[in-house]
Amino acid sequence: MKSLSPPCVLAVLVSGNGSNLQSIINSIESGVLNARIACVISNNPGAYALTRAKSHGVPCIVLENSGYKGRKEYDAALVEILRGYGVELVVLAGYMKILSDVMITAFPNAIMNIHPALLPAFPGLHAQQQALAYGVKFTGCTVHLVDCGTDTGPIIQQAIVPVMQDDTEESLSARIQVEEHRIFPEAIRLFVERKLVFSGRCVLIKG
Ligand code: GAR
Repeated sequence: MKSLSPPCVLAVLVSGNGSNLQSIINSIESGVLNARIACVISNNPGAYALTRAKSHGVPCIVLENSGYKGRKEYDAALVEILRGYGVELVVLAGYMKILSDVMITAFPNAIMNIHPALLPAFPGLHAQQQALAYGVKFTGCTVHLVDCGTDTGPIIQQAIVPVMQDDTEESLSARIQVEEHRIFPEAIRLFVERKLVFSGRCVLIKG
């Protein structure tokens, strides 16, 4: 049954392939997620995520890093665009750029990121490679709110993925992505349905 409340307005920030963007689009199109993607913004003009967005009629904007003096100036431009679209939730789906406090203060408790590890383990780049090098038997993925640190914000959802002895970075990444595509739209749905309660570092789920 269709929801009576207006769809939550999302912006999805991307840098690459966009498989997580695709899972969000699929959840919206199948009626599971009562949201609308107002725009997809990429810092990489070659991101395949842009092709995916366009093929679903989602407006795309490319904001190249080189056009701005630093992260704060870049993020000020980003905030202006997001405000113009009336964005309620900013979704980082493979957005490989650290946000400055300009973005964090503009969207308190309203920026979500997906990370390919069980945070707080293996933050930053190449999380799957870090997990393999450390020799963990299980890793996974985490959806979290974004704060001023790198992958340090309050955790919303996590999923566990086993590490196989013969895993490569590619095979492990592929297994993690299956879980990402499940938990990311689910975490967004909880936000959209106002089921998340923010309490310091902890995010509680109503009901
Ligand atoms: C995803 O695995 C996501 O967890 C990771 O980038 C990939 C993007 O894939 N993000 C990070 O590593 C951020 N620290 P996608 O473009 O196919 O959605």
